[in-house]
Amino acid sequence: MHIRPSTHADLETIVGMLTESWGGTTVIVHGTCYDAARLPTILAERDGRIVGMLTYALDDDSLEIVTLDALERHTGIGSALLTTATELARQAGAARIRLVTTNDNLDALRFYQRRGMRITAVTPGAVDSARTHKPGIPEIGDYGIPIHDELTLEMHCG
Ligand SMILES: CC(C)(COP(=O)(O)OP(=O)(O)OC[C@H]1O[C@@H](n2cnc3c(N)ncnc32)[C@H](O)[C@@H]1OP(=O)(O)O)[C@@H](O)C(=O)NCCC(=O)NCCS
Repeated sequence: MHIRPSTHADLETIVGMLTESWGGTTVIVHGTCYDAARLPTILAERDGRIVGMLTYALDDDSLEIVTLDALERHTGIGSALLTTATELARQAGAARIRLVTTNDNLDALRFYQRRGMRITAVTPGAVDSARTHKPGIPEIGDYGIPIHDELTLEMHCG
């Protein structure tokens, strides 16, 4: 697998993947509205095909993972992208990596906690609020679980 930063030539693919996975390029986390297609992006390629991507936002203190998608699950794509994001955070002098996921996303909660991330906040009703700005956010998520709440996970990377 090859991990690389995106280039302008990848934009169409990135928009397609974000639309497929998240219903568009707008992603709302902890009340912040991101256009994920404009964020720095890391891509995973296998046999010349893009099989995963991670978008992120960097500030002085932390690297926020805004989206992470593996097109083929359980083949190491998510781990490779998370490892690269951790290296980028360290290089940028960020003290931590953080992200938000939703209460239905048991697979992601498992994945991140297995890799050292801790749940640092639960925000009841945050997805219900986000849905008023982005009505396309589904009501029902993974495993048939109603989606209401955001969970924040963090990991120190210094
Ligand atoms: C969460 C997500 C990114 C994880 O990505 P992934 O590529 O499946 O993750 P990995 O393959 O690296 O790891 C998953 C498991 O597969 C295992 N695995 C990796 N390569 C493997 C292989 N070749 N054969 C068998 N198992 C393998 C890993 O060891 C890991 O298991 P573990 O947690 O018990 O160690 C993915 O499920 C996803 O895209 N979900 C939908 C989008 C989403 O919810 N994103 C997160 C939002 S914040």
